[in-house]
Amino acid sequence: MSAKMCLFYLGICKSIGVSNFMVCHLEQLKEDSSVVPHVNQVEYHPYQQPTTVLEYCNQEKIVFEGYCPLAKGQLLNDQTVLQIAEKHRRTPAQICIRWSLQKGVVTIPKSTKTERIRENCQVSFLRRETALSFLTAWASQLNHIQEKHIVRFPSISL
Ligand SMILES: NC(=O)c1ccc[n+]([C@@H]2O[C@H](COP(=O)([O-])OP(=O)(O)OC[C@H]3O[C@@H](n4cnc5c(N)ncnc54)[C@H](OP(=O)(O)O)[C@@H]3O)[C@@H](O)[C@H]2O)c1
Repeated sequence: MSAKMCLFYLGICKSIGVSNFMVCHLEQLKEDSSVVPHVNQVEYHPYQQPTTVLEYCNQEKIVFEGYCPLAKGQLLNDQTVLQIAEKHRRTPAQICIRWSLQKGVVTIPKSTKTERIRENCQVSFLRRETALSFLTAWASQLNHIQEKHIVRFPSISL
């Protein structure tokens, strides 16, 4: 039994999370232990859409937490993101964060600046249907990195 599981069984920690687990890792964990992780933290943004593991987590009731929703800031200069942001009078960061939320993903943007943290929280905009249509159309144009090629925290080429 792993240390995390001991802490969980002892009631010292209330939930257990894993990170960068793909379906094969989660399946292995299922075989090896009786505890299903509560959270799986995986890189998730329009350039990196690991759909299979997202669907698996939803099915197994594991919270899928997407990290680097701004692709470490690289998405903020993307022409499409800039156009959508201008059209909807929002910032590129807000568009990216909204996109993750729209996909049903818990998302964790990071900023060292108070103003940006505040900005990143203000993402309750657009009617759901409107947001879905333009965001989905945008994402489908992108070249996704196939899940089978994902290694831990891969680099992103634009
Ligand atoms: N589990 C894992 O393996 C793993 C791996 C990587 C990251 N993570 C986690 O994921 C979270 C986010 O990751 P991240 O920081 O690498 O990527 P990110 O959130 O996609 O991007 C952060 C970058 O965007 C900038 N930024 C944030 N908000 C902005 C805004 N409104 N306008 C302009 N620029 C903005 C930040 O700069 P400023 O600080 O200057 O605002 C920073 O350079 C972190 O909590 C991290 O710990 C987990």
